Amino acid sequence: MAQKTPLSAVLPPLIFGTATFNHQYNKDPYALDTNGLVQTALEHGIRAFDTSPYYGPSESLLGAALATPYVRASFPREEYFILTKVGRVASEEFDYSPEWVRASIARSLQRLQTPYLDAVYCHDVEFVSEDEVLTAIRELRRIRDQDGTIRYVGISGYPLDVLCRLAERVKQETGEPLDVVQSYANFTLQNTTLATKGAQRLQSAGVDVVPNASMLGMGLLRHDGVPLGSLGDWHPANDELRAAVRKASDFCDQHDERLEVIAMRFAMESWVAAGAAVGSRGDPASGVPWKRESIDDVGGKKLGVSVMGVSTAAELQKTLMVWRSILDGLENGQQTADTAGRWKRAHEWSLNRKRAVQILAEGVQECLGEWFDYAWDSPGKGFVNQRGAKKASEKDKTLKGKEAEAEAPWLTPAASPELKPESAKTELPLR
Ligand SMILES: NC(=O)c1ccc[n+]([C@@H]2O[C@H](COP(=O)([O-])OP(=O)(O)OC[C@H]3O[C@@H](n4cnc5c(N)ncnc54)[C@H](OP(=O)(O)O)[C@@H]3O)[C@@H](O)[C@H]2O)c1
Repeated sequence: MAQKTPLSAVLPPLIFGTATFNHQYNKDPYALDTNGLVQTALEHGIRAFDTSPYYGPSESLLGAALATPYVRASFPREEYFILTKVGRVASEEFDYSPEWVRASIARSLQRLQTPYLDAVYCHDVEFVSEDEVLTAIRELRRIRDQDGTIRYVGISGYPLDVLCRLAERVKQETGEPLDVVQSYANFTLQNTTLATKGAQRLQSAGVDVVPNASMLGMGLLRHDGVPLGSLGDWHPANDELRAAVRKASDFCDQHDERLEVIAMRFAMESWVAAGAAVGSRGDPASGVPWKRESIDDVGGKKLGVSVMGVSTAAELQKTLMVWRSILDGLENGQQTADTAGRWKRAHEWSLNRKRAVQILAEGVQECLGEWFDYAWDSPGKGFVNQRGAKKASEKDKTLKGKEAEAEAPWLTPAASPELKPESAKTELPLR
């Protein structure tokens, strides 16, 4: 294997997650202004997008947004990262076989309209056996080395013990550690075990970068509760946890704050430091327009990587505002704020806000009581991978036929209602 630049030298510390471009989070993803969101994100300095073939039309919508004449002319492909996944076919179907991995990569390249993928994760590894994951990792690395259509390889999932064990096994059995392990909902206001139990172990297994996804616990940590898309209520949190979160949300209301606002800033700001050892030095999107940046512009230290999930321009802009304020609070944040043309007291304001959020975060964690640091089962009890059974009964079907079948439940653009103007959506005071 040729010597390569470590992912931690180039991956931006803030990634735009596009699981929201799907029916789980939204009633009709085709009704979202995905082109506008991606364009605005790029214009504000975002240089990395996370997606998956499992997220319904997300890959195709992201691919189309990155292929508009404006984006193509303004942002050369080498300037941004695309991270996608393989292996999760449907909610109860997983296929980590080399044939499926190859077909899935070919399909992702096509949908994303790109000659290469910056990183590919084995998606939700806890649903298959360790051996299946090892097989898929080997195939992804073969594609990386022989075809050159993949740059970095990793795994993603929820149970920390599974992620750590797999990272250790990959290093031990292949002699090459994973470039990247994406954990979700394990570093939030409700659960901080990625910092207390996971990060160190993953680092010892040689993992280069550990992005923290689902800062709101897949939308759980919100005043209005879990998201309801056209797939109904799929969120795995049980009733007691939801009740504890409501109590925490009431506590925030009493202090004239919104739970999601506190949750977002807490997760991004704390992970910047807690995840630094498994963080990255890529373009931080600090707010200097139209300029390629590096972490050297915001102090030079690696920053823990976060993956945000937004569906509207207002949420995107507010998340970015918070992110920039977090950067303003770093060691040489005053200089960052000055260069970006922000307020002369931005550094001081950031540090005050950080303190206020920390105090409220501790209050929220008191409200959560025994549910703080709780992790739900994944997979849920009684899970059976339907793929094996399906494959056996459909031996004669071509892969092409199976792909069409996997895509069948999603709405088509023709079935999509008209776009709603942005101003019609709820504005949230994200600070
Ligand atoms: N297995 C994996 O690899 C895995 C698992 C989970 C996540 N991820 C990645 O991480 C990304 C982020 O995860 P996530 O989407 O679950 O993130 P999340 O932040 O936990 O939840 C997103 C939900 O929160 C809502 N939200 C976002 N900003 C908000 C705000 N300011 N106020 C109120 N609600 C807000 C969104 O609502 P709207 O829909 O209204 O915007 C959406 O319903 C995903 O898109 C995906 O790329 C990967």
